[in-house]
Amino acid sequence: MHNIKRISDDLIWVGANDRRLAMFEGVYSVPYGVSYNSYLLNDEKTVLFDTVDQAVRQRFFDNLAEVLGTRPLDYLVIQHMEPDHSAVLEELTMRYPNVTVVCNAKTHALIKQFFDVDLNVHLVGEGDTLNTGKHTLHFIMAPMVHWPEVMVTYDSTDKVLFSADAFGCFGALNGAIFADEVDFDKDYMDEARRYYTNIVGKYGTQVQSLLNKASEHTIDMICPLHGFVWRKNLSSIVSKYQLWSQYQPEEHGVMIAYASVYGNTENAAEILSSRLCDNGVKTVMFDVSVTPASEIIAAAFRWSHLVFASTTYNAGIFVTMEALLYDLVAHNIQNRTVAIIENGSWAATSGGLIRRKLEECKNITILEQSVSLQSSLKTSQLAEIDAMVKALMTDLPLSLPNDPCPSKGGELLVDPAAMFKLQYGLFILSAKDGLKDNGCVINVASQITVSPVRIAIAVHKSNFTHDMVLKTGEFNLSVLAKSVPFSLFEHFGFHSGKNTDKFADCAYVKRAANGICYVSQHTNCLISAKVVETLDSGTHTLFLADVTQATVLSTEPSATYQDYFDHIRPKPPKPQEDHKGFVCKICGYVFEGDCLPEGFVCPLCKHGSQDFETL
Ligand code: FEO
Repeated sequence: MHNIKRISDDLIWVGANDRRLAMFEGVYSVPYGVSYNSYLLNDEKTVLFDTVDQAVRQRFFDNLAEVLGTRPLDYLVIQHMEPDHSAVLEELTMRYPNVTVVCNAKTHALIKQFFDVDLNVHLVGEGDTLNTGKHTLHFIMAPMVHWPEVMVTYDSTDKVLFSADAFGCFGALNGAIFADEVDFDKDYMDEARRYYTNIVGKYGTQVQSLLNKASEHTIDMICPLHGFVWRKNLSSIVSKYQLWSQYQPEEHGVMIAYASVYGNTENAAEILSSRLCDNGVKTVMFDVSVTPASEIIAAAFRWSHLVFASTTYNAGIFVTMEALLYDLVAHNIQNRTVAIIENGSWAATSGGLIRRKLEECKNITILEQSVSLQSSLKTSQLAEIDAMVKALMTDLPLSLPNDPCPSKGGELLVDPAAMFKLQYGLFILSAKDGLKDNGCVINVASQITVSPVRIAIAVHKSNFTHDMVLKTGEFNLSVLAKSVPFSLFEHFGFHSGKNTDKFADCAYVKRAANGICYVSQHTNCLISAKVVETLDSGTHTLFLADVTQATVLSTEPSATYQDYFDHIRPKPPKPQEDHKGFVCKICGYVFEGDCLPEGFVCPLCKHGSQDFETL
């Protein structure tokens, strides 16, 4: 009996799940099963994207027959020849003998290696397209994500990326097909990380290449060969791929992996972990003899700092730790700080050997503060554990507890000058409401989270752009560069868009993919974002927004709020003798007089009396 899932008007999932598989690829435990995804595009021509593993062949063929009905199968696009996606190729061609296989030359060679079958083959290469009626398919080569023949397919009609192994996840599909139908971060992200790091973790450079190619297209949906289809919040998984493929940690903290025969090495590892936690450092611990290596490898990709603690065994590293390190190095782990604890009752060698193995990796810093145990940790060695804790904490970007804070009579002082020690940038915030474009200058914008790529901006409520963002939920940020002239601030900052069209006579305006204008000169980057939450903060509204596009426009450094006062704003005129007055710190407007009238607002930039200083 068929069990299909509709993805869109023209696209149907015809894959199947396997919850009995003990070890995926013979190596990776899959306690939650695995899905083998196959998709049928019902266009003027029918197109099948990949097939499935032999274990689920019957359900796949039931699904395919149900969706095709009396229609022929015109094309089979083979994106990946690993047998979990191609095992039933021969049977498929017997059932649908007129099918044309669309593949690249490397795939064709692999077909001949795996099968002895005559096929109608349509060879494609990088950038080739295939029109199937309403849809146009673009083929993008993605070698080594995960095999050399891998390619992905972009359907430019519906903006769907068929991503082969990329963006896949361990775990069977339990009824839901879309990632937004489940709590992906809570229930599936660990399995997505374990899948990525173990299957393609070695090939970060190649994944980066694919991400760059994919970024040239607008993508509304990602259809991988395992796990969920992504149709919302794509940036949450793409941003993880950016981190993983560049071997950058997701979290600051310490992963401790230990191999202990009689518990003494474990004891030292636990004491280390306990003392790190006492100092506010997050830790996770794994006994390498009982935890599958794939889980520890995934954790090593997640955390910034790694500790390996191992007893010495047969004059070498303990067997399970040695296997883990071999695996970790093979998966190309990079950019980590590592500490080592060794143990040996008569000739400890494991520490030096662990160091030598990890030195094969790129950009691994191994701390000098190691600990060498003789059978068990003694009180006299606690100082060495503390030295390791201190070295790890020094390397971690965490604030230390009990920093001195000035106080008066038990009350903490709020010194306004301290606020100016914070760094602020300068940005043109732009929005579009119907046919109306508008923009203003803001100085508070910051990335809040990496996954999803989320930013926060603060906008004064008096700005017309503020109301437009509140209403439409979308905006662009043009990040101003150091070359920005004062005239741009006059243009966008000193009058309201309620009465004027600020973009009509601005020479540097372009429109981004979201339809909103941005400033293309004297800027170094464009960020487009959609608001996910707002917070009323009195004079300002704080907008939390997910980034939908981020494009570097130039290599020029960003201008800072301090630059504005130091270099950009014209120096206020020297006061003539006997002349008393006030100058606006924001725009330089001079008010002559003994005191500012109550409720005075700068006629140029509309800032209040608090932004004036005496001449
Ligand atoms: Fe799911 Fe590389 O195959």
